[in-house]
Amino acid sequence: MYAKFHSIGAFVPSKILSNEDLEKMVDTSDEWILKRTGIKERHIAGDNEVTSDMAAKASKIAIERAGLELEDIDLVVCATVTPDYFNMPATACIISDKIGIKNVQAFDISAACSGFVYALSIAKAFIESGMKKHVLIIGAEKFSSLVDYTDRSTCILFGDGAGAAVISATDNKDEAIVDIHASADGSYADFLVTPAPGSVNPVSQKVIDEGLNFVQMKGNETFKLAVKTLTKDVKSILAKNGIESKDIPHFIPHQANYRIIKAVGDALKMTEEQVVLTVEKYGNTSAASIPMAINDIYESGRLKKGEMMLLDTFGGGLTWASALLPFAGELL
Ligand code: ACO
Repeated sequence: MYAKFHSIGAFVPSKILSNEDLEKMVDTSDEWILKRTGIKERHIAGDNEVTSDMAAKASKIAIERAGLELEDIDLVVCATVTPDYFNMPATACIISDKIGIKNVQAFDISAACSGFVYALSIAKAFIESGMKKHVLIIGAEKFSSLVDYTDRSTCILFGDGAGAAVISATDNKDEAIVDIHASADGSYADFLVTPAPGSVNPVSQKVIDEGLNFVQMKGNETFKLAVKTLTKDVKSILAKNGIESKDIPHFIPHQANYRIIKAVGDALKMTEEQVVLTVEKYGNTSAASIPMAINDIYESGRLKKGEMMLLDTFGGGLTWASALLPFAGELL
């Protein structure tokens, strides 16, 4: 039994936060943000719009596009670092309830921006072992809930949104996920961290006073490591599977920073047509970034059935992952 990438869906909240809006909030400029990151705007969820709301909307689309009934889904995995609740219940349980999936195993995983590709590897393993047939995987973030909008080094980067995919069992090897690499190195944990709440820093007045509930990032160090690790990882997954970068129609990297994407794309000798870019309009949506980007090329008619996708991501943990897979869904 193999696992195939059966369908994609996404949801983008309507409110836009532009670089010009940020100029009024912190000491920054549209020019600086665009030049250093490639981001022009990002979408921000409404006050009453939480991670599970966006995820449920993306999930419904993905299930419908797979031509499945809710009863067909036998596992729900949500990748997020901005869950509805930090401890329990898991956001995957809330999403299942919101869309009407009953009595099905559901859990969250935490791998920051690598979360969606990590979830893909979990779905693949469950399906190949014969335990599940149709796995709903989700990358969803209300990242704005972790951001200190007085910190110019982070608040310009992140946006909100959700993407979902159904991964299904198939006996046709031609449509199967080819390979997934996923890794982590916790010795770089302090590069990207939200210090509280957690067992290290339970909620206290100190947490509030020092803003320890907000994301902190060693941006420049993360940038350099991201370029090095992503390039190495992609070269390795291509070589292992005997595929050359010129044969990949869709290179879909995590959308953190245009300069990281460009550096990795150049190192792999990818053309502009091969590299999928959404960072300009969505910013960094963490675990949602890759499925939102897949959905963009799907809805615009750029992604065709059977075409090979190369996913590549990097995030807090530090975690990184890449995947090689054909798109096995039906066209719109
Ligand atoms: N506007 C204007 N100036 C700024 C801003 C801003 N928004 N932010 C920082 N600066 C200033 C700094 O203060 C610094 O000034 P100085 O030279 O006077 O000290 C200068 O700009 C350069 O700062 P750097 O941090 O060195 O800038 P850099 O070119 O590295 O860009 C950025 C910063 C965009 C954050 C970049 O490092 C980056 O994208 N890093 C990687 C992020 C990433 O990939 N994260 C992983 C995924 S995220 C996840 O997992 C959730």
